[in-house]
Amino acid sequence: MKKYILTIATILFASIVQAGESHYVTTPPDVVVAMLDSVDVTMADTVVDLGCGDGRIPIIAAAKYGVKAVGIELDSEIAAIAKQNVERNNLGHLVDIRQGDILQMKWGESRQVVTVYLDPELLQRLRPVFDKLPIGSRIVSYQHPLFGYGQGKVIELFGHRLYRYRVIQKIRKQKICGPRGCTYVDVAYKVIEGF
Ligand SMILES: C[S@@+](CC[C@H](N)C(=O)[O-])C[C@H]1O[C@@H](n2cnc3c(N)ncnc32)[C@H](O)[C@@H]1O
Repeated sequence: MKKYILTIATILFASIVQAGESHYVTTPPDVVVAMLDSVDVTMADTVVDLGCGDGRIPIIAAAKYGVKAVGIELDSEIAAIAKQNVERNNLGHLVDIRQGDILQMKWGESRQVVTVYLDPELLQRLRPVFDKLPIGSRIVSYQHPLFGYGQGKVIELFGHRLYRYRVIQKIRKQKICGPRGCTYVDVAYKVIEGF
């Protein structure tokens, strides 16, 4: 397992060096694996990396779990590198890299595993996007907690911090009153919480 993650990492790093001009920070491959393991990725999930850089997170997700994975990247040159990395790893049937703005992200109906390594200001602006995630989705944030959902579970590993959240349905009782008296009905609502 470690060997193929290292192989992917080598290809990724080689391509970054070849690109030469791209300056952005990336999540170390072993941290990527820890992020995905922490939320128990299943075949019912689509892994989506918001701000995917060189594509390492969707690539590792597809290679390790065989799941569909999507990477969204604003910078067209970096998105092109990510696409190249997908091809080099022969994962074009599973990984979809899209050049675009994550603030405009629309979710499919399947459960999503969302990974983020973004600055706190952008994470805050993403809240309306997270709020639309389908029930059952999970979010893992590298280095920074999300805004407005509590700190989430903090996972410490060799000097790195992961913050983990889930999208769940809760039920509350609502009092309804009419001419024949009052009754209580169950009302479902969605919550994003640390777990
Ligand atoms: C810190 S890097 C993380 C890269 C990758 N997710 C990783 O963990 O290795 C953040 C990436 O988000 C991209 N980004 C920033 N704002 C974005 C936006 N509004 N829409 C899409 N991508 C964005 C940047 O270009 C950069 O590649």
